[in-house]
Amino acid sequence: MNAVYEPWSAARCTEIIESHSHVEGGVIVILHAIQDAFGYVPEPAIPMIAQARNLSRAEVHGVFTFYHDFRHEPAGKRVLKICRAEACQAAGGDALAARAEQSLGVKLGHTTADDRVTLEPIYCLGLCATAPSAMLDGKLVGRLDEKRMDALVAEAQR
Ligand code: FES
Repeated sequence: MNAVYEPWSAARCTEIIESHSHVEGGVIVILHAIQDAFGYVPEPAIPMIAQARNLSRAEVHGVFTFYHDFRHEPAGKRVLKICRAEACQAAGGDALAARAEQSLGVKLGHTTADDRVTLEPIYCLGLCATAPSAMLDGKLVGRLDEKRMDALVAEAQR
């Protein structure tokens, strides 16, 4: 279990699905809400969504696998999100993202082999004025440069 996400619970999943019952055609919205809660979309959530939405498992599974945003595995203990949106890119974010990938030995969207850190892209943290920006376990960090990124990666690995 990491600091950001809840442990899997079928009851909580049902609650999330029900809270979106008014959202029309909302399979994607529900999948996002489930991933926001648990850090990934656990396999048992698929038939639960299908049943609630009167769809086949294959239809829900199709949506789940079509979008690369959805994670199939639990996140690592720490979650480091690096902003990949325009303002951060313009401020040197590409090189910093590559630096984080190299330091951690994983590409964006993946978790280190020891399950310590999940490295994720995010598209604008609302911190464009202090770009390039990132977020470690929900804590925002701006004005990143090589030194600050290295420190952030080191903190994530602690
Ligand atoms: S573009 Fe990165 S914080 Fe807005």
